[in-house]
Amino acid sequence: MSDRKKVTLPRLMRKMREGEQITMITCYDYPMAYLVEQAGIDMVLVGDSLAMTMLGYDSTLPATMDDMIRHAQAVRRGSPNCWLIGDMPYMTYQPSNEDAIRNAGRFMAEAGCDAIKLEGGREMAERVHAIAAAGIPVMGHLGLTPQSASALGGFRVQGKGAEQAKRIIEDAKILEEAGAYSILLELVPEQVCRIVTERAGIPIISLGSGPHAHGQLLIFHDMFNLYPKFKPRMVKVFGDAGTVILNGLKQYVKEVTERTFPQPENWFTMKDEEYEELMGMLE
Ligand code: KIV
Repeated sequence: MSDRKKVTLPRLMRKMREGEQITMITCYDYPMAYLVEQAGIDMVLVGDSLAMTMLGYDSTLPATMDDMIRHAQAVRRGSPNCWLIGDMPYMTYQPSNEDAIRNAGRFMAEAGCDAIKLEGGREMAERVHAIAAAGIPVMGHLGLTPQSASALGGFRVQGKGAEQAKRIIEDAKILEEAGAYSILLELVPEQVCRIVTERAGIPIISLGSGPHAHGQLLIFHDMFNLYPKFKPRMVKVFGDAGTVILNGLKQYVKEVTERTFPQPENWFTMKDEEYEELMGMLE
């Protein structure tokens, strides 16, 4: 295990104030989280994108609270020192403040999360305030908010026009004033991200929104070519694990078919006397 210090809110705020970039990643299970911890990443989001990347659905909407808790628990075991954020699934916070607080509380109590994230602008300010007032740090999420992809016209850049950009900039301030400790800006033009960042007193994190934010987020499966359905333009592949694994699987099929796997180092043998005794017993 690493000897890292636990990432705390004061530490994230200090990084922001001192102009040190904050690193964030979405990941979903123990082996990934273990590597994330070793790499020294600051913040880990257990995203409801797991409905797509882990479960193969076409949207994030089918993720349930129980799915999220199970995965967040696994990530916490792998990343004990990262700032761990549970992503509130669709319709677990929209209906009422009570639902929002109860479900946010589950992430904290059952999975050991440090914070939660929810999607939406001014219309979610009341929820942000209620959850924050219950003592749970809340990250906002503006721009492309995948739970509203249908209303937004698909997975596309938001805030390209001046009117919509102004609304995003205003929403960021409203969420901050409602008590959000940080805001994720997904797929907005870099100019919009820069303005939001310049005006913010809390860390702004960019996902495909350019270099001006206080930190960056990518999704593990996108970074390592592990999601076969599509590759968003903003993603950089930092390592082609998908191809490495595929080649390994093809080699496995070949070696088993050709009987070159397994080899003696891959199996176990009884002592001769035990084997002879066994044969005697079987005769
Ligand atoms: O679910 C997720 O991974 C997210 C990111 C796309 C920000 O919400």
